[in-house]
Amino acid sequence: MSRIQVVPNSKEFVLNRNDFIVSKTDMKGIITYGNKIFIEMSGYGEKELLGKNHNLIRHPDMPRIAFKIAWEMIQNKQEFFGFVKNLRKDGGYYWVWANITPDLDTNGNIIGYTSVRRKPNPKALEIIIPIYKKLLEAEKSGGMDSSKTILMNLLEEKNMEYNELIIALQGV
Ligand SMILES: Cc1cc2nc3c(=O)[nH]c(=O)nc-3n(C[C@H](O)[C@H](O)[C@H](O)COP(=O)(O)O)c2cc1C
Repeated sequence: MSRIQVVPNSKEFVLNRNDFIVSKTDMKGIITYGNKIFIEMSGYGEKELLGKNHNLIRHPDMPRIAFKIAWEMIQNKQEFFGFVKNLRKDGGYYWVWANITPDLDTNGNIIGYTSVRRKPNPKALEIIIPIYKKLLEAEKSGGMDSSKTILMNLLEEKNMEYNELIIALQGV
């Protein structure tokens, strides 16, 4: 039996509580490794994933600012946390609570990136989905400057750093 659950009458696929999706990329975000659950959840075969840009599974509902923050943080050797909606090969989707970290060599140089994802807290998604919708709408009319302003205002209002908010929402 597959470990993946499908929400009836929807295109949504849900991770099991104990599952971890793992993938690795090179410096440019080209996939170099994916574990079994990553392959299953994406709906692609391993050969179709390896060597492809990780944006292969980018969902159009994701605001661009989320990835901009991710790349800025990991390129600065910081770890990133985020809620991400991913697109499957069959047009379905799945949400994850993601962590991305840089892989460093013994001299501290970035040689690639690793991401581990878990099932997101459904209560966090209730909060995140309308925020992403607002950020996406802002990007459509005013570009990433608009979505960045909205996000910065939200963090200021909550008096939190980006990762702090994301971790608090997941409730870990
Ligand atoms: C290790 C790693 C894992 C990533 N995982 C995902 C992912 O699961 N889904 C996704 O949409 N983007 C992921 N990204 C970000 C993509 O590289 C990309 O920035 C994003 O899909 C947006 O596409 P774009 O940069 O072409 O706009 C990941 C990046 C790295 C370095």
